[in-house]
Amino acid sequence: MKMNDYINLIKASAQYIRDIAGSEAPVAGIVLGSGLGRLGDSIKDPVVIPYRDIPGFPVSTAVGHKGNFIIGTLGGRRVIAMQGRFHYYEGYPMQMVTIGVRVMKVLGIEYLFVSNAAGGCNPDFRVGDLVVIKDHINMFPNPLVGPNMEEFGPRFPDMTCVYDKELRELAEKVASDMGVSLRSGVYFGSTGPTYETPAEVRFYRTVGADLLGMSTIPEVIVARHCGLRVFGMSVVTNESNADTDAETLNSGDSVVVQADRAAAVMTELFTRIIAEL
Ligand code: HPA
Repeated sequence: MKMNDYINLIKASAQYIRDIAGSEAPVAGIVLGSGLGRLGDSIKDPVVIPYRDIPGFPVSTAVGHKGNFIIGTLGGRRVIAMQGRFHYYEGYPMQMVTIGVRVMKVLGIEYLFVSNAAGGCNPDFRVGDLVVIKDHINMFPNPLVGPNMEEFGPRFPDMTCVYDKELRELAEKVASDMGVSLRSGVYFGSTGPTYETPAEVRFYRTVGADLLGMSTIPEVIVARHCGLRVFGMSVVTNESNADTDAETLNSGDSVVVQADRAAAVMTELFTRIIAEL
């Protein structure tokens, strides 16, 4: 899509949401990953806007993804959540994979919370672990390739402190108040839709990957481009196979089941963090 048409679609989508939900700016946007959509059910006084109702907006097709914006309050603050995201593996161009972040930026968010289901590549990680993302390795095509959208951000955004240090520290404090232990790790994102071969898992370990996934990074790059402060969390839904003759295989269904269990804890954590922003 031409840049002007794309910017018009972003602005029109934001206006569509404002017309229904009111013009008060949300402080935080939340992107809910596979199986983690139930955080959306904790939002108070919710206004639910299905993506399919927004003219020109993409519709999500992935398993465990619903496809709604939900505007309301969480932890006493106004938020907007995306229940369902757009994955590159579904065939969307990067403009569409990341459009929700830009729409939420236009609506006025200052913080972006992203969540995902991920494979535990770090051999110490276990299914159900909650992991604070501290950095990432991007193996997707960069979503900022093309003419720079000057009104959103600079041509060459810095990527030194992508995952906000203060937010990571706040998460640690909140988790310890809750008696929950958190891991921290590097998210390695590639396009999928294949899971990794054992040889790839061993390779990615050697370059510093703790988590393997197929989402999040494009949204985070676009969020940093437009100056949002980012907090990212993965739920470990499977332990990556480093053994070529392993007996258990990865499946999309078990990913969604495991994510559902951790979603309750993550919801409480996000709620308390947002209350303290
Ligand atoms: N690899 C990539 N993406 C994933 C995985 C995985 O093992 N689990 C959940 N999303």
